[in-house]
Amino acid sequence: MCGIVGYIGKREAWPILIKGLERLEYRGYDSAGVAIMNSGAISVYKKLGKVSELSKFVKNKSDKNISGLVGIAHTRWATHGEPSDKNAHPHLSMSGDIAVVHNGIIENYLSLKKVLIEKGFKFKSDTDTEVISNLIEDIKKSAKVSFDEAVRLALLEVVGAYAIVVLSKDDPNTIVVAKKGSPVVIGIGKEEFFIASDATPIIEYTDKVIYLDDNEMAIIKNGKLLVKTIENEVKNPYIQKLEMKIEELEKGGFPHFMLKEIYEQPRSIKDSMRGRISAKDGMIKLGGIECHQDKLINAKRIIILACGTSWHAGLEAKYFFEEIAKTPTIVEYASEFRYRNPVIYPDDLVIVISQSGETADTLAALKLAKEKGATVFGVCNVVGSSIPRATDAGVYTHAGPEIGVASTKAFTAQLTVLFLMCIFLADKKEVLSKKEIKKLLIELENIPEKVEKALLCNDSVKKIAEKLKNMKNFIYLGRGYGFPLALEGALKIKEISYIHADGYPAGEMKHGPIALVDENMPVVFIANHSALYEKVVSNMMEVKARKGVVVAIITKGDTNIKKIADYCIEIPETTDVMMPFVASVPLQLLAYHVARLRGCDIDKPRNLAKSVTVE
Ligand code: G6P
Repeated sequence: MCGIVGYIGKREAWPILIKGLERLEYRGYDSAGVAIMNSGAISVYKKLGKVSELSKFVKNKSDKNISGLVGIAHTRWATHGEPSDKNAHPHLSMSGDIAVVHNGIIENYLSLKKVLIEKGFKFKSDTDTEVISNLIEDIKKSAKVSFDEAVRLALLEVVGAYAIVVLSKDDPNTIVVAKKGSPVVIGIGKEEFFIASDATPIIEYTDKVIYLDDNEMAIIKNGKLLVKTIENEVKNPYIQKLEMKIEELEKGGFPHFMLKEIYEQPRSIKDSMRGRISAKDGMIKLGGIECHQDKLINAKRIIILACGTSWHAGLEAKYFFEEIAKTPTIVEYASEFRYRNPVIYPDDLVIVISQSGETADTLAALKLAKEKGATVFGVCNVVGSSIPRATDAGVYTHAGPEIGVASTKAFTAQLTVLFLMCIFLADKKEVLSKKEIKKLLIELENIPEKVEKALLCNDSVKKIAEKLKNMKNFIYLGRGYGFPLALEGALKIKEISYIHADGYPAGEMKHGPIALVDENMPVVFIANHSALYEKVVSNMMEVKARKGVVVAIITKGDTNIKKIADYCIEIPETTDVMMPFVASVPLQLLAYHVARLRGCDIDKPRNLAKSVTVE
C-alpha cells in the first residue's frame, strides 16, 4: 500500500505532486506529505489524514515555500507507527539533507536503526522508512560517495520490500528511484520525469513509461535517466506505451467512483470479452494463454489463489470449471496458501486472480507455486503490474482503472474472463458440444445488456436501503452460484458501511446463523430462478417464520417470492451460470446506498486500501 509520487523537470512540482497523490489515495490515506527542493533546501510539509487535509494545512500557512521544480510526495497506509504527522512521509535524515518516500516494509529496520543510533543518529518517527534516509546520509558522509551511490550501497543493506524516491539537498537536480517488491513507474516527458506507484498520476502528462524491475534503480539527473541494478549493472530500460485514457480516472458526473464503476459494468464486461469470442462460430481466442494452453487443457486440477473480492470471483470460477469444464478446482486464500506446504502436482494448473496485480499475499503465493514447479496463469486488471509480470501466461480483464476501494467492475470483469477460460477449456476437452458452446456464448454476449437492465433497480434499492440503514447486522444467503455472491454481497456492505455482515450457503443457515434471526436481522437472499430455487424459497420461509426481514433478489416476474419477502429486487432472467454477473449489481447498489445514507466515506473506507502490498 502507500502511494508515492515524484517529479523533476521544468514545471512547478507542487501541483503535479498533489494531483498525483489524489490519484493514488486509493492506496492509503492515513497521512500525506510532500518534500520540495527549493533554493538549495528541502521543504517538507506533512499532515495526518487525507491529501485534502495537507492542501488545507499548506494553504493556511503563511511561511510556506512550495515553489520548486523537483519534489517527492506520499500518501500513507500505516504499517510501522500510528497515523500521525510525525510518522507521515517524506522522512528526512537527521541533518535534513536526504528526503525519502517509501512504499513497502523494511524488515531489518530495527537492527539498522540500532547501529545508526550507536553512531549518534537521532530518530523522530516510529517508522521503518526513517532508517533509509539516515542510512543513505551515513553512507554518503562516511564513504564519501555520490548521492546515487550512497542510495545503492544503502539498499544492499536493506532487507524487505520497497519502492522509494529520494532527494538530496546537495544534488538539487537529481532524483533517485528504486524498487524491490513494491511497484513504481517512471513517466518520460520532454525534459521531465514523473514517478508514481502506478501510471494514473502520469497519464495526463505522457504515455511513455518504464516499469522498474525488482532490484533496479533509476538515477534521474540533469534531464537524463540511467537505469541499473543495485548490483551496479547498467540496464537498457524498455519504454512502454500506456493505453489508459485520462477520462477513465475522473468521476464523470457521479458522486463517487464506486457508483461510476458500478454503472460502467455493461461496458467493462463487454471490453473484457471484446475480440475474444465469436459466438456464432462457438469460438474463443485467448491470446495471452495460447503459448501455454496445453497446460490448461491437460490440467488434472486447477488451483485458484486470490484475496478479497478476487477470491470470491475465484470461488464462482470453481463452480464454472467443475460444472462446465469438468475439471476439479480448488480455491485458496493466497495468505493461507503461501504459509502452508501445499501439494502441487506436475499436471496442476494454478490461476492467480488480482485486480491490482500487486497484492503481496497473492504475489507470494504465485512465487511459491512457481517454486514448486507449477505453471501459473494470471487474471489481472492493471497492465504491467507485478503479478502479470511474474506469471507464465494470463488474460487481462479490461475493466479500466478501478478507483473505489470496494471492488465492483473488476469483479464482474474477472467473472467474464474466468468464464471465457472455462468455455475455452470445455471446448478443447470436448466436454460440451459446439451447439452448447454457441448457446453459452450467445447468452454471454447478452450479459452487458442484462446488466444495463439490472441497473434500473437503483431507485428501488435506494428505498430498501433507507429502511435498513440503521440495522446492526446483515446475513446474505445463496446456493450454488449464489453462494460466492452471498459472500461478496456481505463483504461489500462490511467494507463501506461498517455494518457487520456474514455470507453463508443458504443450506448452512440452520447450522448457526438462524440463531441470530429476529425482527432486527435483514437476510438478503440470492433467489433467482435456478435449479435450487425451491430450496432457497424453503430457507426464506424459515427466516420469515422467525420474523427475519427478507430482502430477495429475484428473477423479473417472480410473483411467488413477492408474496413471502419484505423487499424484492428484480433482475433480468439469465442462465444459472451467468446469474452472478447480473445479481452482483443489486448487491453492490445496496451496499452503496446504505453506506451513503450512513454518511460513510464510500470511496475511501476507514482502515482499508485498494492495493494491499503488505502481508
Ligand atoms: C483489498 C481491496 C479489495 C480487493 C483485495 C484483493 O482488500 O480492498 O477490494 O478485492 O484487496 O485485491 P486484488 O487487487 O489482488 O484483487
